[in-house]
Amino acid sequence: MKIIRGSASRRLAGELAKVLGLELTKTEFQRFPDGEAYVRILEDLTGEKVILVQTTHPDENIVELFLWQDAINEYEIDSLVTITPYFGYARQDKAFNPGEAISARAIAERMELFSDEVITIDIHNKQVLDYFDKPVASLSAAPAFARYFRGKVDVILSPDKGGMERAREASEILGCDFDYLEKTRLNAETVEMQPKTLSVEGKRVAIVDDIISTGGTVALAAKQLKEQGAVEIRAACTHGLFAGNVFDKLYDCNEVVATDTVESDASKISVAEEIANIFG
Ligand code: R5P
Repeated sequence: MKIIRGSASRRLAGELAKVLGLELTKTEFQRFPDGEAYVRILEDLTGEKVILVQTTHPDENIVELFLWQDAINEYEIDSLVTITPYFGYARQDKAFNPGEAISARAIAERMELFSDEVITIDIHNKQVLDYFDKPVASLSAAPAFARYFRGKVDVILSPDKGGMERAREASEILGCDFDYLEKTRLNAETVEMQPKTLSVEGKRVAIVDDIISTGGTVALAAKQLKEQGAVEIRAACTHGLFAGNVFDKLYDCNEVVATDTVESDASKISVAEEIANIFG
């Protein structure tokens, strides 16, 4: 088995190789002065089961993924599993207005071209998986959150009902409470967010979301949970996109962490084990 690491997933591919007990395949990657990517595989892949790890955010990493797939396809390989830890564009999963691209479909169709299987983590909308003809799976990062939060939290909260399954799964592993936050608009300026059933008074809470982008969702949730008496507030996301001055807004959080699906200084949680599990 051979693991090729794309430049957007260097740490995660390294961790995965470690967990699987494999060496990373020797490759070369460069960007030309104009920003175009150059990829080269320096080992023979003939007859190999190949794993390619490359997140598709931001856009330049999508092109790089296609170049790696093309280079891999030059060999008579046994099979290719493409691991796209963060599947970008999953939020544009349909045409909301006439004339719009169905971005998630556009990426899915191209991504599976040379792949035998595609694996991603916590895809924003599972319906996007229907755009694939080849086998595809979205793995859950919940066990990784549970490993990280063991002994640190009393309650796991999803900022919305849609993410409740993730909060439930992590809390079941930890044996702690979970809930989701319900939003109520009080007036034009004020939105209240509070757990559907639990009280957070005196509790250490973790807000767990699939994405932190602008940080608006988590900032509002943390502010309200603090007002409701939470004593420690940690924020965690699978995919830390961290657009703009996001950390400036998250001052009510004692900690902000992400997994390594999108690599940054906040990537303190690895999903390598979750990925490794599918290779037995
Ligand atoms: C929403 O459906 C998602 O689960 C996230 O809550 C959202 O994408 C977070 O975005 P932001 O950080 O910009 O509030």
